[in-house]
Amino acid sequence: MQATEGLAAAPFRPKAEVSPLPLRAQPMQFSPMAERLSVSGADAWTVHNEATRLRATGRDVTFLTIGDPDQAAPEVVVEAAVSALRRGRKGYSPYAGLPAVRAAIAARIERRTGRACASANVIVMPGAQAGVFAALQCVAGAGDEVILPEPVYATYPAVISACGARMVNVPLDPARGFHPDLAAMERAITPRTRAIWINTPHNPTGAVFDEEEMNAIAALCRRHDLWLISDEVYEDMAYARAHVSAWSLADMADRTIVVSSLSKSHAIPGFRFGWVAGPAPLVERVTNLVLCMLFGGPPFIQEGVLPALERDLPEVAALRETYRRRSAAFSALLEAAPRCRLRAPEGGMFALLDVRPTGLPSLAFARRLLDEESVAVLPCDAFGPSAAGHVRISLTLPEPELMAAGRKIVAFAARLASEAEDAQPQAESVGGKHSRATIAARD
Ligand SMILES: Cc1ncc(COP(=O)(O)O)c(C=O)c1O
Repeated sequence: MQATEGLAAAPFRPKAEVSPLPLRAQPMQFSPMAERLSVSGADAWTVHNEATRLRATGRDVTFLTIGDPDQAAPEVVVEAAVSALRRGRKGYSPYAGLPAVRAAIAARIERRTGRACASANVIVMPGAQAGVFAALQCVAGAGDEVILPEPVYATYPAVISACGARMVNVPLDPARGFHPDLAAMERAITPRTRAIWINTPHNPTGAVFDEEEMNAIAALCRRHDLWLISDEVYEDMAYARAHVSAWSLADMADRTIVVSSLSKSHAIPGFRFGWVAGPAPLVERVTNLVLCMLFGGPPFIQEGVLPALERDLPEVAALRETYRRRSAAFSALLEAAPRCRLRAPEGGMFALLDVRPTGLPSLAFARRLLDEESVAVLPCDAFGPSAAGHVRISLTLPEPELMAAGRKIVAFAARLASEAEDAQPQAESVGGKHSRATIAARD
């Protein structure tokens, strides 16, 4: 009764009279780190986003934008993952990864590079993306500088910025096939430099750094006491020459961090399985970060990929061969595109099309290509000034569809060339329409 009386005694207030919480004059604040994450290559995705919008309206758009392999996952991996789930492998797992999986990654690295690698040198990560983020958080902080050859993969600037560090770019010159200029790299080193961060095979340019270049970068790191971070997510997709892993370099064991994954090579980006390999003290620190953030990885995924770590699956060689063949066929087809030059990749899954001779900036080229031919490609300016005037074409479609899209690009380039020639005074168009000689002279 007492309680009822107490309630009855409370004065009745109609809802409207309840005073609202005072409204904040300013929006709620976020941490400096959260704000620094907003640095991104978002501009690169404007055409892709527009293409997605058009597709939602029913338009038949061909997407050559994203690096998501179109192959099926290897059957043995699917079976192992499903079987692990059926065996109830759904609980927590050790932060650094299942012991058998860490051992298998270490053995794989040792097998491929000829240099010792132990489980203590390896930590499982949910993809190479998380790997580079975690590694960089552990080696660079406020005021540090990280040297990165440019153009850069679109997520890297935010990863560096999240640490409070500063990205120092060294151009990868198209005229050198986007290979590094070691003298420029050395000139970029200051007392604040903590790391050189490379990516080979390289996204978006497709460059595969050779042994001499890798050794020269290693020598710079030793001479200036720097970390070497190497993103090798396309390690199984090198065509022009063999991939050289940073792990294979001499006298670098105390300062090399290799990040990789099975996302591309095994066509399983959705598995989110990758790793960081480095000196044991680095792995201990990354483990602390994983404890705070991830609390370990899914055991059924780790057991699923075990067969792919223990041996080189035939599907990986087949996938590499498929991309090599697509790249060759696509390059041959694009020879016919006036005022454009296709740079066949030395590795990876993208081709760069140099559209500078068309006179259109890459964004305008990509926008018109989408409008007029319903083909979506990625303008590269947002990847860095050295890639300005190039568009990135993902080779992730079966060959007939890829070639059909290629023919549309050729038709579009021919139309652009006609427009340009029609706009020119008669005297300047000697040599005929779409003459490659004319193009070469202008390029
Ligand atoms: C250079 C580079 N690094 C990392 C990633 C992310 O890989 P993962 O799916 O293993 O996180 C990508 C994906 O496209 C990439 O191109």
